[in-house]
Amino acid sequence: MKTLIVTLALLLSFAMSSQAQKDSLLALTPPMGWNSWNTFQCNINEKMIHEMADAMVSSGMRDAGYVYLILDDCWMAPTRDSLQNLQADPKKFPHGMKALGEYIHSKGLKFGIYNCAGTKTCAGYPGTRGHEYQDALTYASWGVDYLKYDWCNTEGINAEEAYRTMSRALAATHRPIVFSMCEWGDHQPWKWGASYAELWRTTGDIGRGWYIAPRPNGEWTPLGFTQIIDKEADLRQYAGPGHWNDPDMLEVGNGMPTNEDRAHFTMWAMLAAPLIAGNDLRSMSEETRQILTNRGVIAVDQDSLGIQGLRYAVQDSVETWLKPLKKGDWAVCFFNRSSTPKKVNFDWKSNVIIDPLSKRELNANMHSYDIINLWNNQSLGSTKKILKETVPSHDVLLLYLSQKAPSVGMKPGK
Ligand code: GLA
Repeated sequence: MKTLIVTLALLLSFAMSSQAQKDSLLALTPPMGWNSWNTFQCNINEKMIHEMADAMVSSGMRDAGYVYLILDDCWMAPTRDSLQNLQADPKKFPHGMKALGEYIHSKGLKFGIYNCAGTKTCAGYPGTRGHEYQDALTYASWGVDYLKYDWCNTEGINAEEAYRTMSRALAATHRPIVFSMCEWGDHQPWKWGASYAELWRTTGDIGRGWYIAPRPNGEWTPLGFTQIIDKEADLRQYAGPGHWNDPDMLEVGNGMPTNEDRAHFTMWAMLAAPLIAGNDLRSMSEETRQILTNRGVIAVDQDSLGIQGLRYAVQDSVETWLKPLKKGDWAVCFFNRSSTPKKVNFDWKSNVIIDPLSKRELNANMHSYDIINLWNNQSLGSTKKILKETVPSHDVLLLYLSQKAPSVGMKPGK
């Protein structure tokens, strides 16, 4: 009897633990790619997507890590076929989705697609409600590797149940498909999303701006990227390898000044955010390309510990953010949110920092760290001396601190 009870308890705890977290190796670091929505909305077609796949390769984006090419809303025909299967819009995609996936795969990229948990997508195309298993099989048959699953037209539906159903439908296909929940943070998806998905949107849609004032009368307004950062800052405990907070896709290259693009990209890296570019890669400027493909900044985002950064201090409109990295290294970002340049005067030795989440310690009295400015690759010496730099308005100073051997007098291993 006792053995039976123990066995049952073990089985139950196994069942509960496999429920608690999606057993996913698909996104051990935040997913990287490109998505059609931020620039093209519904104006997508086969020729443009082929060109974008080519540009992902020729621009160096793919080799920098951007592998998912994701079609957002409006790829579908307005109705399902006679067997209720989803079908591509025959005018926009005359060769269909399977052929499109093959083209994307032939470039060494992965194929992402979009649908919605509701009866219709946000743009009014057939939604998945009631067709979850059928649509998952359709995607698998097309070679889809990533599904963004939105939240329009879901009146009366329970969010967790809807995302659980689609997650199970994807799992039942036995094709590895990254599941990107796009529920806008309405039902605190960070609290339950890890059981079902690799990433979940934490906010409403991003717009092209630093700060976008809400329109009167509660009319829908996108968010500027600093507004999104403020919503993300308190959610760091929910992110980690395989399950990420998603502060929405990048607006780099879509019209903000270069300093703001740089700050936006840097802060997404500090937040361990998915890096999904949303600009026209075929015509981007060299400046934009250099921001998006900065290897040092991408390495901060993609660090294998997967710890979302911490807002450590705010002083005179300059925020100090820290992100613990593998091997005891740290990324440190000074983010100037004011409209004037600011002097940063940071004494590493008098700021012994213990990250309350990871318990990792940045202690310049115990170790000396070499400092590299990741935006110009120049050395800024070490943490032995006080950092004195100026950060321009709406810009960042992003530093990579690498740990050296323990300083003289310290015994190794202690
Ligand atoms: C919602 C999503 C966006 C985009 C559009 C498409 O607004 O949040 O990211 O997918 O729908 O209609």
